[in-house]
This record gives sequence, C-alpha cells and structure tokens, in this order.
Amino acid sequence: MMNFRTFILGLAASFGLPWLCLIVIPTVQYQHLAPIAYDKEKDGVDFTSYPPANINGQGQLVYIREGCNQCHTQMIRPVQLGLDGWYKGWGEDQEARPSAPVRPNVLRDYLGEKYALLGVQRVGPDLANYGWRAPDANALHQHLYAPRSVHEWSNMPAYPGLYKVQKIQGQVSNRALKLPKKFAPPAGYEVVPTPEADRLVEYLLSLKKAYPVPGQSAVAAAPAPASK
Ligand code: HEC
Repeated sequence: MMNFRTFILGLAASFGLPWLCLIVIPTVQYQHLAPIAYDKEKDGVDFTSYPPANINGQGQLVYIREGCNQCHTQMIRPVQLGLDGWYKGWGEDQEARPSAPVRPNVLRDYLGEKYALLGVQRVGPDLANYGWRAPDANALHQHLYAPRSVHEWSNMPAYPGLYKVQKIQGQVSNRALKLPKKFAPPAGYEVVPTPEADRLVEYLLSLKKAYPVPGQSAVAAAPAPASK
C-alpha cells in the first residue's frame, strides 16, 4: 500500500511540477504585462509606448488557419543561444552586417497580438521582422499564390485557395497578379487576391518585432522604427 501511495505521489509530482513551472507560474507572472512608456532621452525614440504598433489581427487568423506557423517561427533567439545577431535581413537594417545588431525577441513584443505565434519548426525563414524586408504587396501575393514562381527551389506550399481565378471582364483587373507564363492562368483569365489574402499580406507587412525595448541599453542603439 505504501508503495502504491509513493507511486501516485511520484506520478502527481512528475506531471504537476512541470505544469506548475511551465504553465501556471508563467501565466500568473505574465498575464498582466502592459506596454511600457518610452523615455525620449534614454531611449531616443519618439513613440509614446512600446510596443508601438499592433499587428493585423484578422490576417493573423488566416495565418493560423493556413498553418504557416508550422514552418515559420516568429522568434529571434537570445544571443547566448548561438545567434550572432547581425544576419542580413533580420531587422530594419538590411546590410550584411547592420550597424546595430538585430535584437532577440522579448515577451512584450507579442503584446497586442491575440496569439503569440512562436512557431513550431524553422522550415522557412523566421518572420519576426518580416515587415522590414518584405517586398511590395503584389510580390508577396505572387509568392503565396505560387512560391516556385519566385524561387524555383522553394518547398513552401502554394496557397491558390486564397486567390480567385476569374474570367477577364473587359479590362484586366488592376489587382490581377503578374505571373510568369508557367504559372499564369489560361488565356482570358486572371488571378486576383481574395480579401483573406489581402489581410494575410497586411499581417505579414505588419510584423516588425525589432522596436527598441525601453530601458535596455544594448537595444537603445537598435534602429528606430520608421513606417514603411
Ligand atoms: C511546409 C513549410 C511551409 C509552410 C506551411 C509555409 N511556408 Fe512560407 N516558406 C517556407 C520555405 C521553405 C520558404 C523559403 C523559400 C521561399 O522563399 O519560397 C518560405 C518563405 C516564405 C516567405 C519569404 C520569407 C523571406 O524571408 O523571404 C514568406 C513571407 C512566407 N514563407 C510566408 C508564409 C505564409 C504566409 C504561409 C502560410 C499561408 C507559409 N509561408 C507557409 C516554408 C513554408
């Protein structure tokens, strides 16, 4: 009987302790996170509070539904975990060695988002700061409609379901995607984005988790956000 009790207690502890440490304590600790005000003198930033910009929430729902999260992370790891912090294209500064390192993400970066989409695997590039390096919306639509029309080697799935192939009525729509011949619809037809595709692209363009964190000196030197 004694052994059985020890067994049950041991079982409860092995599941209860991780649950307490990984779920309960962080939830209690972090659920009241609020934006912090910038100090213009110290942070050198003109915005009132951090994080200054919200992401496009409707687009985020499309991102979740389509499973983009399975292949794309939105989290730049802390430097001590092996990241040099200067990779080209990881922040606002697009140089091969930007003047300021791209900072790792912190908890508050995800404030203003209904879900913090850290990602499941890094099959594709990290999208935490994608808004800084994204091409224009049209090029982004082309990539989502047919990734291989942009990179022949791409193993990202295509999302034709987010686009409508329609018969050209009179003039070609000004929203029609300009596709290479191999990916173009049959003659007399055009491909236009659905409203969902538009929200998804707005969401991707709104991903800019590189804003300076108030009071963090290493980060105060990071590039000041500018609207794009
Ligand atoms: C099966 C894995 C996979 C899924 C699912 C996936 N992607 Fe990708 N994605 C990739 C790979 C691999 C690349 C790099 C190749 C390329 O650019 O096509 C990429 C590239 C991208 C890029 C360009 C990133 C850059 O730094 O240039 C964007 C934006 C993107 N994906 C958005 C999405 C969105 C939005 C979804 C969901 C609708 C999605 N991906 C779903 C694998 C995936």
